[in-house]
Amino acid sequence: MIIDKILGFFSSDMGIDLGTANTLIHVKGEGIVLCEPSVVAVHVGSRKALAVGTEAKRMLGRTPKDIIAIRPMRDGVIADFDIVEEMIRYFIKKVHNRKLFVRPRVVIGIPTGITEVEKRAVKESAEQAGAREIFLIEESLAAAIGANVPIQEPAGNMVIDIGGGTTEVSVISLGGMVISNSIRIGGNEFDETLIQYVKKVYGLIIGERTSEDVKIKIGNAYLEKHKKVETIEIRGRDAATGLPRILEMDSVEIKECFNDPLEQILDVVRETLDQTPPELAADIVERGIVMTGGGSLLKGLPKFIARETGVPVVLAENPLNCVVLGTGKFLEEMSKFNTNVFRQ
Ligand SMILES: Nc1ncnc2c1ncn2[C@@H]1O[C@H](COP(=O)(O)OP(=O)(O)OP(=O)(O)O)[C@@H](O)[C@H]1O
Ligand SMILES: [Mg+2]
Repeated sequence: MIIDKILGFFSSDMGIDLGTANTLIHVKGEGIVLCEPSVVAVHVGSRKALAVGTEAKRMLGRTPKDIIAIRPMRDGVIADFDIVEEMIRYFIKKVHNRKLFVRPRVVIGIPTGITEVEKRAVKESAEQAGAREIFLIEESLAAAIGANVPIQEPAGNMVIDIGGGTTEVSVISLGGMVISNSIRIGGNEFDETLIQYVKKVYGLIIGERTSEDVKIKIGNAYLEKHKKVETIEIRGRDAATGLPRILEMDSVEIKECFNDPLEQILDVVRETLDQTPPELAADIVERGIVMTGGGSLLKGLPKFIARETGVPVVLAENPLNCVVLGTGKFLEEMSKFNTNVFRQ
């Protein structure tokens, strides 16, 4: 339609990665214009949203009694519809307000296991925020596109996307998903595991932010034999006395404590390889598995998976941005896809 063409000319089509940990928005011709934590600060009584994104994350663990900071996309699914709606609307408006009155086309990356009800909620929020046309695309497909994996070729490609709350392992060929398995274990699970461990073993209570910080600094999945053991000071509160205390831990002990989530991630990779038709499996061995998502940045993780599966693994460039870049590229190259599949 001519009107659509005109709208398209003026509108800023958007690709959105609605992640458990972070929400990113890509605008055609501009690149990534927004990257904020998927957090909303809410007033307990009225459930009114007081802050969204970066501002709300600053409040995590530090809020007064009547304000709570919520991660509404916890575990890759929608835990709280109203709050998610508020969050999507806020982010789209924030980006969109810079261009007046034009309704954009919006592509949103969603987890593979998401239910119909959840899909509808995502779609409705985007509609309310002023989107003209909405496409939902599976995160792993978007991640593959964003990582420049040649998905349109008649060959098998495997992508492991490890986000905050989920790990998705997919085999893609000819532009479509052949197999996809996901578990509700992602980078945040390592933080949780460490919190539980130091509480149980050392009687020290630490917060999510501290735990993530330790993971990023010296967390690892694969210990190189020749590498020096690193240590770190962890600050928390003694469970018994309630007083502040500092604990020293080293990289070997932290690796040990990560074994459980690491095994779970490995299991889903093995399972997916096992389900892959032989021809496609041969392609994957030749091309290597591609890893995306912030969770893939855990030191030594690609190496750990390569060693355990015997298949080469490559870490994508900018793992944190693959999904959103993929949604953007999808908008630009829409003619190559059967868009009806994505128009929910
Ligand atoms: N340098 C790093 N080392 C280890 N982990 C990291 C690093 N940087 C980010 N992470 C982890 O990556 C995760 C967030 O990744 P990402 O932003 O891809 O998730 P998401 O897309 O929001 O989540 P999901 O895809 O599950 O919905 C967090 O668990 C974070 O702690
Ligand atoms: Mg993600």
